[in-house]
Amino acid sequence: MSKNNEDFLKSVISHAKEYGFVFPSSEIYDGLAAVYDYGQLGSELKNNLKTYWWKTMVQMNENIIGIDSAIFMHPKTWKASGHVDGFNDPMVDNKDSKKRYRADQLLEDKIERYRKDKKDDRADKLQADLDKAIQEDDLTALGNLIEEHQIACPVSGTRNWTDVRQFNLMFSTQMGATSEGAEKVYLRPESAQGIFLNYLNVQKTGRMKIPFGIAQIGKAFRNEVIARQFIIRMREFEQMELQFFVRPGTEMEWYEKWKELRLKWHLAMGGPKENYRFHDHVKPAHYANAAVDIEYKFPFGYREIEGIHSRTDFDLKQHMEFSGKKLQYFDPEIKQSYIPYVVETSIGLDRCFLSVFGHALTHEDLSTEDKKDSRVVLKLHPCLAPIKAAVLPLTRKDGLPEKARELMNKLKLDFSMQYDERDSIGKRYRRQDAIGTPLCITVDHQSLEDNTVTIRHRDSMEQERVALEEVERIIQEKTDWKNLLKAFLD
Ligand code: GAP
Repeated sequence: MSKNNEDFLKSVISHAKEYGFVFPSSEIYDGLAAVYDYGQLGSELKNNLKTYWWKTMVQMNENIIGIDSAIFMHPKTWKASGHVDGFNDPMVDNKDSKKRYRADQLLEDKIERYRKDKKDDRADKLQADLDKAIQEDDLTALGNLIEEHQIACPVSGTRNWTDVRQFNLMFSTQMGATSEGAEKVYLRPESAQGIFLNYLNVQKTGRMKIPFGIAQIGKAFRNEVIARQFIIRMREFEQMELQFFVRPGTEMEWYEKWKELRLKWHLAMGGPKENYRFHDHVKPAHYANAAVDIEYKFPFGYREIEGIHSRTDFDLKQHMEFSGKKLQYFDPEIKQSYIPYVVETSIGLDRCFLSVFGHALTHEDLSTEDKKDSRVVLKLHPCLAPIKAAVLPLTRKDGLPEKARELMNKLKLDFSMQYDERDSIGKRYRRQDAIGTPLCITVDHQSLEDNTVTIRHRDSMEQERVALEEVERIIQEKTDWKNLLKAFLD
């Protein structure tokens, strides 16, 4: 599969479904738009990405600790954070198709189309006009740009648009048994607020000294109007967020440091450097004085996968005002109390999953002069692979399954393993290639005689004969977290 063709997303979606990585949610009811479920292998890969993040951010940093806060929070949280009033997208409706679109996204798509058609001047001009309209919160200007560039609704094909309006993205529900007593609560649109509300608890109980960070992995919910590009824009998704509390005046230093560290984190997984870039925000969110995205180059264009924000003291100050509780820090070094400033790193786990999965999915032509052949192989970093090794008896008889089971029972105590005895050995190797298993261990007749097995390596397809007692060590060395983590030692 070419990594540049437009069918990339289609092939990723079908591979993800065929092998149990990602399924459309509620599929037997025809699905639920922009909601997805992770299957048996997808959840393993996702867990491995979480582990990688947690180990590098929490376990390896003595001044960062992790929490797991509730999704429901006091409704005042969202008033204080600015989400009730300010968490909006500029939307426009097509009066014929009755479809609703994000105005800025329609314009971004047009820019991409101009670039594809080599109309770079038009693309640059539209980009500048779009940036200006966003910076000035000018909804009329956005509407004018849609008209000026003759953007038509992809469904009806007409240009019969409403005015551009703001639309709040938070989901709400009721908490409480009776309708009179019920209180409106929100499903959090970012996990960050759970960290801010626990700032004091954690700082005190953890005896944390500034600079220090609080990290969290958890679900977030946004009523995204345009749901598209698979798990790029979902209504229920997962974030891995760090709020790093610093002395006011030092935030830009930390902002630069975190930019560098977070890019390093992505690169360590094996993706090419040229697929990542920083994109500074023209108009940072209401809470930030500086913001940058780490963007990943998917075959359909660059998309944000992580945001790094200098959030100033906005959130703690707001919560202090709305709750009436003091959220200050006494800095013993300078003998002063202040509200800490915050640098945030916020990565979308699902987008990260897609970048890693999409890059790993490789179609290899193995044809020789005599024979046509190919394979699909998921070249994931061995630490991230859902299954670390597969145990395969060459045949289903002669005591080979028993010998293989014995090995499997030993290895599954330490590793995520698969046992497979169906189909030819070649087909089984291909199945493991397609799900990214780094090693296949084949038990054959020689194994019964001399206690050796063959180990086949996913990427090179090379096979070696090794002693049975060496297998555990070989898997351990290949999939050891240290291989990935050592880049983060000071
Ligand atoms: N706390 C800051 C915050 O939430 P954000 O830039 O809105 O910042 C951070 O979101 C990351 O969450 C994004 O970089 C993206 O990877 C992910 N994300 C945001 N909305 C998403 C959606 N609808 N579906 C999947 N991932 C999303």
